[in-house]
Amino acid sequence: MTAIALEGLEKAYGTTPVVRGLTLEVREGELVTLLGPSGCGKTTTLRMIAGLEHPDAGVIRMGGEVVAGPGIRVPPERRGLGMVFQSYAVWPHRSVEANVAYPLALQGMPKAELASRVREALRWVRLEALASRMPHALSGGQLQRVALARALVAGPKVLLLDEPLSNLDAALREELRAEIAALRARLGTTMVFVTHDQGEALALSDRIAVMNLGVIEQLDAPERLYREPGTPFVASFVGGANVLTGEVEQGVFHCAGLPHAFVLPPGLHARNGSATLVVRPEDLELGAEGTELPLSARLFLGHAAEYRFPLGDTLLRAVGPVLDVRPGQTLRVRVRKARLFGAE
Ligand SMILES: Nc1ncnc2c1ncn2[C@@H]1O[C@H](COP(=O)(O)OP(=O)(O)OP(=O)(O)O)[C@@H](O)[C@H]1O
Ligand SMILES: [Mg+2]
Repeated sequence: MTAIALEGLEKAYGTTPVVRGLTLEVREGELVTLLGPSGCGKTTTLRMIAGLEHPDAGVIRMGGEVVAGPGIRVPPERRGLGMVFQSYAVWPHRSVEANVAYPLALQGMPKAELASRVREALRWVRLEALASRMPHALSGGQLQRVALARALVAGPKVLLLDEPLSNLDAALREELRAEIAALRARLGTTMVFVTHDQGEALALSDRIAVMNLGVIEQLDAPERLYREPGTPFVASFVGGANVLTGEVEQGVFHCAGLPHAFVLPPGLHARNGSATLVVRPEDLELGAEGTELPLSARLFLGHAAEYRFPLGDTLLRAVGPVLDVRPGQTLRVRVRKARLFGAE
């Protein structure tokens, strides 16, 4: 069953198109992430689903009903959704309990029922013990849990989350990430999650829509997206891959405008001609064979090290075992595995 269907959504601010022909279906109970760089249109898309913005063209359906389209504009409060934003948006002069109770109080729910629903929502986010605290006495993670409880208390079918974890430190982010996953499993709420953090998207999502310049470049399950990126942009954004443009000639890739060339791995089907070479840092091997390149930096990562080589105006990044090498030294770099776009 489809919970949310976006069909050919268009949105421009002034003359600048921000969302361009975006089509996406989110199934009931599914967590779909909109992932992409700053300014690619993630928040705008989410705000159109919420009803805070109206698309210039296209249709939005929720549970089969058209909520936005030509001549139709169902207001946010009638779309049956909850929202959590990056800024905690918790009312400072109300207690935790009163913040969470607010959506129910607006509906005029009887006091006894309201109190029990609030208690339950606080239990979901493990804040029962802090019910009477005021927001100024809460940590960032606790504030974001209040926002989550408030968004869920009325039992929305759909929860929209716009970078809800990006104000938190790394440890809290992982903790709350796991809690969101657990809540979804428990409540079965359909979720649309917005982030520009690929690790977060990979860890949390059923499917990820990678956005670039207002369009979805690829929509896939995390593993598939990581293993089989459909475009150089997806490979570089999701896998941190190196993207090089150039020419293939007899199994050798020549970088455009540079003297450097890489022998392509055997088995990679490469027709002669212009191509884009996409190589993950971990698929570059430093050793006795390969292209000689000067090392500009070595970053110790703990379990491994990252090696950087200037290549024209970009940097080639390799990740591998920690070697005793220094910037300025020349190393040999071999392409162990790669993808080629435009020459297959
Ligand atoms: N109300 C507005 N008026 C004019 N331009 C806007 C408005 N809202 C967003 N934009 C522009 O639209 C583009 C997309 O914005 P949007 O907020 O959707 O991006 P985003 O993908 O959420 O980025 P970020 O990761 O930085 O939050 C940006 O270039 C932004 O400056
Ligand atoms: Mg945004």
